[in-house]
Amino acid sequence: MNQALEIQSFNDPNEGAIPLHGAEGFAGMRRAGQVAAGVLDMLTPYVVPGAITADLDALAREHVAAAGHDVATIFYRGYSHSLCISVNHVVCHGIPSPKALKDGDIVNIDVTVVVDGWHGDTSRMFLVGDVALKARRLVEVTFEAMWRGIEVAKPGNTLGDVGHAIQRYAEGHRMSVVRDFCGHGLGRVFHDAPNVVHLGKPGKGVLLRPGMFFTIEPMINLGRPDVKLLDDGWTAVTRDRSLSAQFEHSVGITEDGAEVFTLSPAGHRAPPYKVV
Ligand code: MF3
Ligand code: CO
Ligand code: CO
Repeated sequence: MNQALEIQSFNDPNEGAIPLHGAEGFAGMRRAGQVAAGVLDMLTPYVVPGAITADLDALAREHVAAAGHDVATIFYRGYSHSLCISVNHVVCHGIPSPKALKDGDIVNIDVTVVVDGWHGDTSRMFLVGDVALKARRLVEVTFEAMWRGIEVAKPGNTLGDVGHAIQRYAEGHRMSVVRDFCGHGLGRVFHDAPNVVHLGKPGKGVLLRPGMFFTIEPMINLGRPDVKLLDDGWTAVTRDRSLSAQFEHSVGITEDGAEVFTLSPAGHRAPPYKVV
């Protein structure tokens, strides 16, 4: 494709300039997405009772560095870790620490890498040991809610359709969708336009066009949707201390759907992930 035409943009009245990428962007995002998903694949056998979350962070940092890439979160707005590790009632942005995972925990691990300037951003839930049925249900509903959103991400539909699909599925299972954190455009920029709200009305919001890149990363709570930020300035928890789950994929809108850049290279589809 002509270099000059490689990145165009679409001006949305509310969201501003939304980049529209070409073949080079898709190729870059494919590589970045696979590296990011590969980090989660690599970590899978280590996410067990007794694992120290700071050790998982170090493993990820070393793995990405050994491949010659960077993580996007070190030095990002004062954050200094390679992963966000959000356990149980932590909604997102949990900070790796000397604390150990314990039997029955549900854990989100979120990683963003930069490969040749392109960002791959993905997260998955892990079940630690024996997890109670209602926590497993939350994880399953959150996973399916993300996919309901991805399935309607195509030209002609809107971000409202994506949010609505997620909200309808989660609320249909009497769970709630977090409003305070959103998905986001990404590409050469980590957090770009558009904002991807995980709730919405059919037909409302940004009209999707081929070449738009963004994440879909719903956070779903067993209780109320309200969150609060802890004093560390990062960790977001549910106000009612109910369990929260999240999955995240980075996608690019194609002529007839969405390409998911962050599918597992190891073929892990849904939790519980089989370690061989
Ligand atoms: N990866 C997160 C996201 O999905 C962002 C983490 S920013 C951090 O957008 F600084 F908290 F790491
Ligand atoms: Co993200
Ligand atoms: Co992320």
